[in-house]
Formats: sequence, structure tokens, C-alpha cells
Amino acid sequence: MASEPASAQASDPAAVEPLLRLTDVQAGYGRAALVLRGLSVTVAPSSVVCLVGPNGAGKSTVLKVASGLLTPRAGQVVVDGVDVTGRTPQQLLAAGLSHVPQGHSVFPEMTVAENVLLGAYTVHDRSVIAERADFVTGLFPLVGERWSALAGALSGGQQKQVEFARSLMVRPKVVLLDEPSMGLDPKATGKVFEQVQRMRDAGTAVLLVEQNARRALEAADVGCVLDLGKVHITGPAPTLLADPRLAQLYLGGRPKEVP
Ligand SMILES: Nc1ncnc2c1ncn2[C@@H]1O[C@H](COP(=O)(O)OP(=O)(O)O)[C@@H](O)[C@H]1O
Ligand SMILES: [Mg+2]
Repeated sequence: MASEPASAQASDPAAVEPLLRLTDVQAGYGRAALVLRGLSVTVAPSSVVCLVGPNGAGKSTVLKVASGLLTPRAGQVVVDGVDVTGRTPQQLLAAGLSHVPQGHSVFPEMTVAENVLLGAYTVHDRSVIAERADFVTGLFPLVGERWSALAGALSGGQQKQVEFARSLMVRPKVVLLDEPSMGLDPKATGKVFEQVQRMRDAGTAVLLVEQNARRALEAADVGCVLDLGKVHITGPAPTLLADPRLAQLYLGGRPKEVP
């Protein structure tokens, strides 16, 4: 299928080497048809890139390829200039990619502290762990305030903060967030996206995938629309928000059908 020209030339801050680059990725599950069919996306330093697309479009599959949970059949994954295609999840974590999966991943019977510190299981120096715990509680004050509480006692939005804090304990270059707003009410959703921006402002680039396209694009710097296994439209998030083709896509049409 022919790609639609980008609505606004992706303001890929061209001069800047991206922290994460997926190029022409093909990936799928078992013998089923490929889910990703030549997908390319880049994440520049200090940016939030948001990949939007309908349910089943392959958003989670993109993050699984980026974090090494799924080996691509073709294409490349490059982190900060290093080709990491085919490496294990542990190696990709060490390379600087931290994945916050879709759904809930806090352990409700453990404290907030225990949940957050799990993120530092690869670190053995206690002073480094303490320094990182200070960093994440500075970024997410609620996590510090509820440090000794059972994680299961927190609201859904608060539990997301615990997951974010845990993911930052490895000090990743890029954090991969899979539908962090899922199941949250509009107020909690707004807070989650504020925290996403806070992570970026503190120096961690973000690749966010969301079905909640409008809210997510409002928080993002760059937006990409995933459809039929490829990124069909990419550009500055505000430009995408104003693009009638985006609305059309969610009304069931395809970008190529829009005049
Ligand atoms: N573990 C799996 N095994 C087989 N098929 C899968 C698996 N995970 C996802 N799929 C299929 O891959 C496609 C894309 O899924 P996914 O990446 O989860 O989409 P999204 O996150 O955009 O909703 C869907 O058709 C889904 O059914
Ligand atoms: Mg998904």
C-alpha cells in the first residue's frame, strides 16, 4: 500500500541523532500474517513521540520489538547509534530501553518502595540505588509520600506513577509506555500525561503508544499514526491534531480515501 505523504514533514530534528530508531521493521506472531510491515519510527532526545492507532493495529507489538520481547523478522532496532536488533530483553534494558507494559504491573501486596526498588534489581551499589530512589521520588512526589504503603491501596493513576518510577530506576535513555491511560478517568489521564512530560523534561525520551489519541497527542511532541502495519502519517503532534485525516481514520476511513 502506498504511503500517504506526511501531513507536515516530520520535524524530525534532523540534525540530532535519535536515541531510538526502528527501521523497516517486520514482525508478527507464529504463522499468522505479519503485524508490522515495514514500520519505521525515531525518537529524538528530550522528546515524547506518540504512536496512535486503533485497537489491534500493532502498537504493543512495536514496543515488544523495541524492548526485545519479540524479534523482528526484518528491519533494524538502533539505540543511540548501536544496532541492537535481535538482542534479549535484558540486553536491551542494559542498552537503555525500559518498557512499561499495557495493563497493571504493580504487585499489590508489596509496598510502593518494594515495587519501585524492583526496577533497580540489576544495580548492586546501595548508594546508586538510594540516589536513583531520590531522583524518582523527586519526580513523582506521591511515590515518596506513599513509600511504605501497600501498592494495592493506591488508585489506578497512582499505581501508574509507581510503574513509571520503577521504570526509571534503570535510568533508561528511552522509556516505552504502553497505553498508560488505559482504564483511568479523565482527571487521572491528564495527570498521567503530565508525568510523561515530566519524565521527558528530566531527560528521558519517551515512546508512548495510545488508543486515546487526542489526549496523548496533546502531551506529545511528535505524533505517528499506525495503520496496516506501517506509520502512515507523522509530524509535530499539534499538526496531527489539526489534521482532518486523523479524525477520518478514527471514523473508520483510511487516510488514502481522504481527498
Ligand atoms: N502474543 C500474540 N500472539 C498472537 N497474536 C498476537 C499476540 N499479540 C498480539 N497479537 C495480534 O497482533 C495484532 C496486533 O496486536 P497489538 O500489537 O497488541 O495491537 P495494539 O496494541 O495496537 O492493540 C493483533 O491482531 C493481535 O491479535
Ligand atoms: Mg496494545
